[in-house]
Amino acid sequence: MEDLIAWSDVYLIGIDEIDEQHEKFFKVVHEFYMDILNCEGENAVEETLEFLKSYALEHFQSEEAFMKKHEYPRIEEHKKIHEEFIEKFDTLADQFNTFGPSQGLADEALDMTQNWLAEHILDVDAQYAKHVNQI
Ligand SMILES: [Fe+2]
Repeated sequence: MEDLIAWSDVYLIGIDEIDEQHEKFFKVVHEFYMDILNCEGENAVEETLEFLKSYALEHFQSEEAFMKKHEYPRIEEHKKIHEEFIEKFDTLADQFNTFGPSQGLADEALDMTQNWLAEHILDVDAQYAKHVNQI
């Protein structure tokens, strides 16, 4: 079983707007996991799934706009990582629609959302934050 990672200052990249979005992203991801685990019924899970996707898209858009504004040289590479996340997420949604909620699917969902996000923040998001803070 996957563990829930508590939000902490480790994940702050020093850009308030983005930090707030990351914290919310964590919360939504946990809600999503709990909904699947509690077998909240397909509608609740579907709703959270949709909300999570739209929240991710919105968040990626603000990051990309921010990187563009600050002329971050590796923006294309970063955008590609965001796109890949959405693609994987769509695959997960398909699996959910086909097989319904399960512990296995909940764990997979948490791994590809929470664990992905934690690593993404510490690695590639921290890189553009460093670039912006150096200007
Ligand atoms: Fe990002």
